[in-house]
Amino acid sequence: MTTPPRRPASAPVNPPPRLLMGPGPVNADPRVLRAMSAPLVGQYDPVMTGYMDETSQLYREVLRTSNEATVLVDGTSRAGIEAALVSLLSPGDRVLVPVLGRFGHLLREIAERCGAQVHTIETAWGTVFEPEQVEAAVRRVRPHVVALVQGDTSTTMNQPLEALGEIAHAHGALLYADVTASLGGNTFAMDDWGVDVASAGLQKCLGGPSGSAPVSLSPAAVAVLDARRHVEHGIRDEHDEDHGVRIASNYLDLAMILDYWGPRRLNHHTEATSMLYAARECARLLVDEGMDAAVERHRLHGAAMLAGVQALGLRVFGDLAHRMNNVVAVEIPDGVDGDGVRAAMLEDYGIEIGTSFGPLHGRVWRIGTMGHNARRDAVLTTLAALEQVLRSAGAAPVAGSGVGAAREVYA
Ligand SMILES: Cc1ncc(COP(=O)(O)O)c(C=O)c1O
Repeated sequence: MTTPPRRPASAPVNPPPRLLMGPGPVNADPRVLRAMSAPLVGQYDPVMTGYMDETSQLYREVLRTSNEATVLVDGTSRAGIEAALVSLLSPGDRVLVPVLGRFGHLLREIAERCGAQVHTIETAWGTVFEPEQVEAAVRRVRPHVVALVQGDTSTTMNQPLEALGEIAHAHGALLYADVTASLGGNTFAMDDWGVDVASAGLQKCLGGPSGSAPVSLSPAAVAVLDARRHVEHGIRDEHDEDHGVRIASNYLDLAMILDYWGPRRLNHHTEATSMLYAARECARLLVDEGMDAAVERHRLHGAAMLAGVQALGLRVFGDLAHRMNNVVAVEIPDGVDGDGVRAAMLEDYGIEIGTSFGPLHGRVWRIGTMGHNARRDAVLTTLAALEQVLRSAGAAPVAGSGVGAAREVYA
């Protein structure tokens, strides 16, 4: 193997311009990047704690919840998932994970590491569960927690959640949803749907960089954390008593993170200031646009991309009735080199599209229209480039067909 030439370490970071049209991360909104370059303030500066309170309020609006316990976990979306599960699940607890794709398997794996008794049900990739299937499994397993993904980017499916809160609660379980890939681009109504815990990330429809995970917990979920509260020595006072089985992670202990974000402001980690600015700006932009308007924007540009790829003669993977608005999985035509097409899109046009994981790796391309890139010019540019690249790769798309079909959606 030859060693690539070393770049001088003294060279500044200077990435090429890219249009990120994969399943996320996508280009951050320039307003989010500007917010991140704002000067730092101290951890307990009233300006900082004020921003923390405002960020909580903004995410209540984004998630459509009145949950007091709405905070950021410093880390990528996976840190939010892990914080939720390690804080909710004591060793031996039963958890039901309906798996509709790669990220359902991630929930299973994290729950196993928490020492929970994990039960899964699976549906074929490209499909979603009917509520009755989840209900039958809940009756059988009697879980403490039902944990699933709303939008699983690996398959592009959007699992309907509306009925699942009632089902979980009727059987004494809490409902956790990973909304990383779907939030902002697809309707999510935390309180109306009875979702007890939700976690997300910035790098999809929220239009920011990865690195901050908004998490919200219902009062019932907070009660589970309270029953496991262990405040660290060195910061506790005489009223703090240990309760229940200690949460296995210190960094991701949501009970302590809530004490840091709440009125006690008990010291935990040092909040990642620049990421908090980013998360706050992502939510501010969405709330300013209106959550319904943001979902409608993703629906429109997703529909234009879907029409465009179909007009280019490409088949779309999965149950179209349950597709997320913000990403489409396109089957790679026989005889076309999927990785070669992705490389040509990147090298010749500066556009990134993705492949998928596991059974879909090398079988589909995933093309996203999300966050700042849920825009007409981004959709049309991607379709124009894809037509040329497909032709060079041996396919025979009709000239102008992709852009034309997308323009009709916009007409
Ligand atoms: C549904 C879902 N959950 C979790 C993740 C993991 O997110 P992160 O890479 O930010 O930790 C992703 C990333 O694509 C995702 O799509």
